[in-house]
Amino acid sequence: MRAAIVNQLGQAPRPGERPDPAERPGHTLVRVTAAALNPVDLHIASGGHPAGAPAVPYVPGIEAAGTVVSGGRFAPGARVRVAVPGGFVDGTLAELVSVPDEACLPLPDGLDDDLAAAVGVVGVSALLALREEAGLRPGESVLVLGATGALGQAVVQLARALGADPVVAAGRNPDRLKALGDAADFTLLLEDGPSALDPASLAEAVAEVGGAVDVVVDLLWGPHARLAQAALRPAGRWVNLAQSAGASAELDAAALRHRHLRLSGFSATALPADRIATAYAELAALAASGALHPSLSVHPLADIEHAWTAQAASPGAKLILRP
Ligand SMILES: NC(=O)c1ccc[n+]([C@@H]2O[C@H](COP(=O)([O-])OP(=O)(O)OC[C@H]3O[C@@H](n4cnc5c(N)ncnc54)[C@H](OP(=O)(O)O)[C@@H]3O)[C@@H](O)[C@H]2O)c1
Repeated sequence: MRAAIVNQLGQAPRPGERPDPAERPGHTLVRVTAAALNPVDLHIASGGHPAGAPAVPYVPGIEAAGTVVSGGRFAPGARVRVAVPGGFVDGTLAELVSVPDEACLPLPDGLDDDLAAAVGVVGVSALLALREEAGLRPGESVLVLGATGALGQAVVQLARALGADPVVAAGRNPDRLKALGDAADFTLLLEDGPSALDPASLAEAVAEVGGAVDVVVDLLWGPHARLAQAALRPAGRWVNLAQSAGASAELDAAALRHRHLRLSGFSATALPADRIATAYAELAALAASGALHPSLSVHPLADIEHAWTAQAASPGAKLILRP
């Protein structure tokens, strides 16, 4: 089969040929129609992921849409979304992939394969972080720190779909903030430099976007943690999903205590299959209805090296590869 193959850790995959996956009990063989790229694919292929390194050569990719060839709970030809738990075995950037039966989920009519592939990883994290981790209720306000990437767009759009009001989107790229459109009530351009982070400037920024918020969903960490603390109301909830702006941050213990702030982290990596299945069914319906509409950038699988480089540089869209 044709596949994108990592021959050496730390190098981009190249198009090539791999043996077809064997049929195995407990696994479903799927013909991939659209595979999504995720930052974790690059992290795993770098060899530096804390969970370990894959044996090379291997095929990266942890999610896709496709049609069932054989095995599992679905008839051949059924349209499914697949996930590759862990991401350390041959994955979805190929014509065929073999996945555990429970990682194969039905797709509704009205949801095309590119979109079906795009909304899984980011959508499940965004939905569960907002509703379960932050306990967001309709009418509460949300600030999304780092709103312009694939995950940030999903958080903004799902906050809107869950009834958040207002939704505030913050990021460093003004064009990408603008492209979020109606999903955000306010946008906040994050400036570089220490003066942007002094208490008066932070207070001014918070006032500009409608005042303090109930929930911060934080994809940035680093220096922007100061904004999260300044922006939260008493008893506000702050959920960290990523650290795109830095691995460490300054926390104001007095603010945490006296304003009863709740800080937690959330990762969808180790979620049980049934929670992913329930969340994905909901996301698929939201995507089919147009409520969840990530920007997509679609390429043939043969362009994998170009797509890989684009993902490393923050593409502003979910990259989809079609075998
Ligand atoms: N916790 C979870 O369950 C979970 C789930 C999925 C993904 N993630 C993680 O979330 C992160 C984002 O994933 P993604 O798919 O959205 O990636 P992406 O599409 O590449 O987006 C990257 C985002 O980070 C922003 N960014 C990068 N460096 C920055 C900096 N120095 N300062 C401010 N903003 C910066 C980018 O802003 P620009 O648009 O301005 O470039 C963009 O919004 C990754 O680390 C990923 O591993 C976590």
